[in-house]
Amino acid sequence: MLKKCPKSFDTFGYFCTYEKKQMNNLPKRYLVTSALPYANGLKHIGHLAGAYIPADIYSRYLRAQKRDVVFVCGSDEHGTAIPIQAMKEGTTAQAIIDKYHQAMKEDFADLQISFDVYHRTSDPLHHETSREFFSYLHERGELETKETEQYYDEASSTFLADRFIKGTCPHCKSNRAFGDQCESCGTALSPDELIDPVSTISGNKPVKKKTTHWYLPLAKHETFLREWILDQHKDDWRPSVVGQCKSWIDGGLQSRAVTRDLNWGVQVPLEDAAGKVLYVWFDAPIGYISATKQWAIDNDKDWKPYWYENDTQLVHFIGKDNIVFHCIIFPVMLKLHGNILPTNVPANEFLNLEGDKMSTSRNWKLEMRDFINDFVKKENGGDQCVDMLRYYLTQIAPESKDSEFTWKGFQDAVNSELVSIFGNYVNRAFVLMHKLCGGKVPRFVEEIADEKDHQLVRDIANARTKIEASLEQYRFREALFDVIDLARKGNKYMQEKEPWILAKTLAENPAQQQKIDNCMHHCLQLAANLAVLINPFLPSTAKKMCSMMKVVDKMLDWENAGSMKLLSVGYSLREPQLLFRKIEDEEIACQMDKLRAGAIAAVDETKPAEEKVHALKEEIVYDDFGKIDLRTGIITAAQKVPKADKLLQLEVDLGFEKRTILSGIAMHFQPEDIVGKQVVVVANLAPRKMRGIDSNGMILMAEDASGKLHFVQPEHTIAAGAKVS
Ligand code: MF3
Ligand code: ZN
Repeated sequence: MLKKCPKSFDTFGYFCTYEKKQMNNLPKRYLVTSALPYANGLKHIGHLAGAYIPADIYSRYLRAQKRDVVFVCGSDEHGTAIPIQAMKEGTTAQAIIDKYHQAMKEDFADLQISFDVYHRTSDPLHHETSREFFSYLHERGELETKETEQYYDEASSTFLADRFIKGTCPHCKSNRAFGDQCESCGTALSPDELIDPVSTISGNKPVKKKTTHWYLPLAKHETFLREWILDQHKDDWRPSVVGQCKSWIDGGLQSRAVTRDLNWGVQVPLEDAAGKVLYVWFDAPIGYISATKQWAIDNDKDWKPYWYENDTQLVHFIGKDNIVFHCIIFPVMLKLHGNILPTNVPANEFLNLEGDKMSTSRNWKLEMRDFINDFVKKENGGDQCVDMLRYYLTQIAPESKDSEFTWKGFQDAVNSELVSIFGNYVNRAFVLMHKLCGGKVPRFVEEIADEKDHQLVRDIANARTKIEASLEQYRFREALFDVIDLARKGNKYMQEKEPWILAKTLAENPAQQQKIDNCMHHCLQLAANLAVLINPFLPSTAKKMCSMMKVVDKMLDWENAGSMKLLSVGYSLREPQLLFRKIEDEEIACQMDKLRAGAIAAVDETKPAEEKVHALKEEIVYDDFGKIDLRTGIITAAQKVPKADKLLQLEVDLGFEKRTILSGIAMHFQPEDIVGKQVVVVANLAPRKMRGIDSNGMILMAEDASGKLHFVQPEHTIAAGAKVS
């Protein structure tokens, strides 16, 4: 059936992609998945950028297109990662999954990830679904069994998963090596390679014991995989994804064990399989199916078409470490089980942080929760911060190669793009409309339209086509760039038309009002278009713009993009609201300090006691030190800095002069308790403005093991201004 193109396009002869796609068999429904995060800890912004934000943008775009879409996710609650975390935290596996499932769910909600369902793999519905899946394959003879020898802990009567065996590394001889990897040198190991293995459960030496497992014989499916990935999808999947698949296939496909000896997971549904569970990578992707079932139950819908009908477009959003599971193993499982296969698996590369790989063990990371607490949950514009993060993470999305999050980059993206281009454009359009057009959408008179006006109309229509094409092909960076670029064009248009100059000579030349009106009419229609186009990326911003324009959210339907008739003439609009605040230097400095402090603390924690030395900064020469002018001083006054939890504003007498110094010690001292204290001050530090106050110097503090701060002082009080060296 051919759908009629929305009216607004007819005027421009615009033939929308939607209609073209209809003719080429647009999928009937979409199932969008984000990798199920392990419920063993909080997730960082690398995860967010890799699998959640892009999937959310895509789903929001599809919904705006009024297509049938279900966006599913949930917590991955099985595997050895969970009991190991439980050991670390001294609690039960159940407590761990309950805690992190809830925490992750909240964090995603706070960052406006719009899952239609957020399920969990410990749910009975998932256990049942996974067992049925396994039985289906088993009954049809698609699985093999194999007997192997594995380490067994007699004291606790359990087979030992790789992570539960510790020993000496055959490469670096460190005693911090596990059955899967050495923590010291990072080499991947197998339990058999460990020297002097011991069980981490009992501390005893493990014995070898025979065990039987079920395997998925991938080699049998090589032809299918070659044809499906390397022929059919060689052009529409990302080259990095096809490349990784190719090297897996060319490297020879091994049978993969789909069961484990473990007491945490989905029980293997066979009589002779006591103490065995499904391997986490077997059950976790089935979690996408269970989640869809849960969604159907909650919404009184049928889940089956999403997993069985060929006109479903299934898209998995993941990080590159998950490619083999989503492109090779799970598709083989799906094929054997009679399900549809993914249409695309737009895997992302990794996101680094400030010049280094993100790492939980080294604590070099920015957790979603930290960003939420430090920015989103703050007063004065916290709500804008979600979109700021979504913006920057999309702008630097590691779509084709690893990319890097830096705090400076975040600040620049916000201040010089969101604030200066997008926010500024919308704000100016509204302010000028109130000033020059009485707060109402003015009329546009075609007769006096010039080439600049026509060009803007074309720019808007073209932007839609281009952004749409990028989104359909999972090129989110490019799509977002084009939205901002359209705002940039709007600024240029306004700048060239200079309606405020025309307004100055209005008395002499009243006919100029129509020129002003034409310009403002176009500017406002462009602002409305920007709301539609930015909506999949920055949903709160789009909502706020709707409220400024006094229109319902339905205006954000994608079919409205490209139209110059979104706002009716004579309609009165609200005053502008600030869309984005600036990110201040001190916020960035504070985050950098936090990142470094966290990493140093982590080094301390993981080192055995005898190695516990504080990581020293790099070596300097005397001249470096000689540049620092340290002086004694006396605190003569102290007060809290409004709206800054950590800062105290101090007056310090240096003998030869008095200084105002801001110090980040407000969590440690009451202002009244420190007046009269002798301190040591870095007296020649360049002044720095924080919260609008100039800080002229720095107070030396020492931090003890508990994190408490202490003033560094001369042994006895001496005259202020004395040199310290
Ligand atoms: N929990 C896995 C990870 O964080 C991802 C599982 S994706 C799924 O790497 F497909 F298995 F669900
Ligand atoms: Zn090693």
